[in-house]
Amino acid sequence: MLKGKDIIDASDLNKLDVEELLILAENIIENPREYADTCKGKLLGSLFFEPSTRTRLSFESAMLRLGGEIIGFSDPDSSSVQKGENLPDTIKTVASYTDLIVMRHPKEGAPRYAADSTDIPIINAGDGGHQHPTQTLTDLLTIKQAKGKIENFTIGLCGDLKFGRTVHSLIKAICQYEGIKFVLISPEELQIPEYIKGEILDKSKSEYREVERLEQVIEELDILYMTRVQKERFFNEADYVRLKDSYILDMEKLKNAKEDLTILHPLPRVNEISVEVDSDPRAWYFKQMRFGMFIRMALIMKILGEE
Ligand code: NCD
Repeated sequence: MLKGKDIIDASDLNKLDVEELLILAENIIENPREYADTCKGKLLGSLFFEPSTRTRLSFESAMLRLGGEIIGFSDPDSSSVQKGENLPDTIKTVASYTDLIVMRHPKEGAPRYAADSTDIPIINAGDGGHQHPTQTLTDLLTIKQAKGKIENFTIGLCGDLKFGRTVHSLIKAICQYEGIKFVLISPEELQIPEYIKGEILDKSKSEYREVERLEQVIEELDILYMTRVQKERFFNEADYVRLKDSYILDMEKLKNAKEDLTILHPLPRVNEISVEVDSDPRAWYFKQMRFGMFIRMALIMKILGEE
């Protein structure tokens, strides 16, 4: 039961919740009109303390397509945060006008802190380099659409595995499925944090290995999840400049890849996937961002209990 629940971390959704959300999202994709009034009279608070294009606009269009409405801000400097208001006070304020809050914040843990200051549900739309559970739902729906199932795959996660919150959430969720093998592809400085290895990969007994070169493993992969080097999380510009071009996926590299490889990317892309790859049938990242709206429609409906 997701009604009234906070979604802060990928572990707030169990396998059954995910299954039900995927089914509902697939029904919405088939018959969007049937859902047009499901959230009529409901109001979503959309609070983005950090930049966003897809996550914010897909949540907002999801609510509008369900017949609900939205209020909020995409620039905290236009709100009383700029006057020095603390997070719990801002959340209490917005919670007194709305039925559900979606928030993105640069500080890890901020959505949990926000959830402690209100009774209305909070959805984490990304907290620092920590978690991004609704991107994971988007990724799982895309995998299901591309492959027809979410089991028995070798998935390569490539790029900034240290700061990439979408990777952290995805590993947490997908390691619950049968037969998933992870290939973690990153420069040494951007390897997956130790706590993810210890608390998630080792505990779930998932098979994984760490490599530095994409060319070395591309032929084994069923899914390749590319990520952007997270410039905003670096402490110094020189490290970012040194690491930013670590991986560039192009047609040359794809020569050795499987015919039915599925290429995913949470987007935005900087230069880690060449534009020439966009027209390859294995590129799923633009479809993926559209699926993000449908899975968020499903999630909003379930949390508001409006099925
Ligand atoms: C991601 C994020 O914000 O973590 N973007 C998104 O939500 N689709 C990935 C990124 O910014 O690199």
